[in-house]
Amino acid sequence: MENYKKEENQIIMCGIIGIASRDKNVKGRLVDSLKRLEYRGYDSSGIALRIKDGIFIKKRQGRVAELEEELKGNTFNSEVGIGHTRWATHGEPSCKNSHPHTDCTGKIALVHNGIIENYKELKKELEDSGHIFTSSTDTEVIAHLIEENLKEYTFIEAFRKAVKTLEGSFAIVALFSEEGSLYVARKDSPLVIGIGDRENFVASDVPAFLPWTDRVIFLEDGEMCKMTPNSVETYNFEGKSLKKEVIKVPWNLAQAEKGGYKHFMLKEIYEQGKAVGDTIGARLERDDEKVALEGDFPIPPEEIERILILACGTSYHAGLVGKFYLEEISGIPVYVDYGSEFRYRKPIINEKTLVIAVSQSGETADTIGAVRLAREKGARIISICNVLGSTLTRISDVTFHTYAGPEISVASTKAFTTQLSLFFLLALDLGSRRGFLSDEKEREYVREILSLPVKIEDILKKDKKEGIIREIAVKISSARNALYLGRNVNYPIALEGALKLKEISYIHAEGYPAGEMKHGPIALIDEETPTVFIATESSVLKKVKSNMEEIKSRNGKIISLVSDGEKELSELSDYIIRVPGINEYLAPILNIIPLQLLAYHAADYLGHDVDQPRNLAKSVTVE
Ligand code: G6P
Repeated sequence: MENYKKEENQIIMCGIIGIASRDKNVKGRLVDSLKRLEYRGYDSSGIALRIKDGIFIKKRQGRVAELEEELKGNTFNSEVGIGHTRWATHGEPSCKNSHPHTDCTGKIALVHNGIIENYKELKKELEDSGHIFTSSTDTEVIAHLIEENLKEYTFIEAFRKAVKTLEGSFAIVALFSEEGSLYVARKDSPLVIGIGDRENFVASDVPAFLPWTDRVIFLEDGEMCKMTPNSVETYNFEGKSLKKEVIKVPWNLAQAEKGGYKHFMLKEIYEQGKAVGDTIGARLERDDEKVALEGDFPIPPEEIERILILACGTSYHAGLVGKFYLEEISGIPVYVDYGSEFRYRKPIINEKTLVIAVSQSGETADTIGAVRLAREKGARIISICNVLGSTLTRISDVTFHTYAGPEISVASTKAFTTQLSLFFLLALDLGSRRGFLSDEKEREYVREILSLPVKIEDILKKDKKEGIIREIAVKISSARNALYLGRNVNYPIALEGALKLKEISYIHAEGYPAGEMKHGPIALIDEETPTVFIATESSVLKKVKSNMEEIKSRNGKIISLVSDGEKELSELSDYIIRVPGINEYLAPILNIIPLQLLAYHAADYLGHDVDQPRNLAKSVTVE
């Protein structure tokens, strides 16, 4: 392995899998799991298997498919193995940097996600004691540290002592050839155990082992375990034995597979009717007229002075829509901030501040860092999250789950629409409990929200039948820039629509409040630059129409998203996409769907890797 200089601020995120089984085909299953984890990273991958004479290791730069190719015809197989897929933003992705890494003897192989902050000091000490390093990665230090400790201790003790010496964040799975057990440790990096039938699993995320089990143990920070095909012994880093609860996750295999769709993203877009229906249905009383949330607010609703929404990426855009809902329906002032900005501020917070953290994965480092800071300052925390047992859910006072099912595509879709639906329910519940919303109005809103799943299905059926969005996508795919404009509650939809396009089609797109266009973006308008207007029925539609005229008079191409039945805007628009009418506040949940499809079709037409866009990762678990 060549030397590799790890930069101080290197960001690494990865997918980890470990299998201890009675079944001999662990190799094939590791590769299968790595494919399921590829959304976490796809620069390089590798596996290690326990074989008769020691440990067999194979690594490859590039996608897991290349590792699979490399393994073809290879007859080695095993009952115990580990695998890793990596994503790096600094440092060239290469075979030499891939995991698993080993110690001097080759008896220990391990995979790691996170950053070992004290690796330089540890490496020096180990080199002074005669250890030979074959890479400059921080991960390799862990293998040598265990090897060093093995001089005095049993493997489990050697592992525990090594883990205690490490500073930084880590999810580690180590394989020891002499035992055939897996050793697992977690600190500030996701890791979940899967309990199977005479086999056990460990992975960064549940979909990795969902074909084989849906029974899981969520490891907490500071916990480790020894895993064999028949047992999982859990300890804390002090060596105290722990009893952990086994939980059945409400996800199934079909949800984690493409099921005939060309891409996960398309499948997930098409799942939104059900996902939104499930998210809403779980929170309505039997007569379907009132919201009944499953958890109570950590601050009595009438005492909440302000709400602070913290999130990143698409979840941040959901927060911007949530602000409208909460302010207008429950009458509480709301501030929205990016996790990565908030955590480096000196925030003004008190015990009457309710934080709502929004995250699909529940593992986004900046959101978690921001929540921890808010908590330190006295805030109480609600989270809106899609992953049961994730870090965010464990540091929140109350969690409301979005029942979207596993979201695999890097570009988030169904998580977003379920987050918006939950925000709406939260606003209704808070509004009614604070006496800000009348029962009658609440019933009217509930009736409207109940119409969402069918209306979402209508949009999707129409897309399949008519293909209008695909036609428009083909037309805009040659553009270098695109503008997305909306007002009021649809301004965040302009931001999210633009984000979707740039993430997967690599066309530069900017979302802007339509009224602000005249203060800058209008200078970009020419015949080549399409502008997508979110112009569905609303109190500000007339204003949006004036903005359209401004674009038209400068020869810009206009794509309008309008409500069914709308006639006037057709004349101004080059292309029209129609969506069913609905209450103005709920319109964003419908409006984003054609914009997701527009981005999807453009990226697919351009031949891009839709599910794994370049340089992006699904779950950004380091700051
Ligand atoms: C990454 C993903 C985005 C996602 C963001 C926040 O950047 O590529 O799709 O919106 O993280 O993720 P979260 O899991 O916290 O919602």
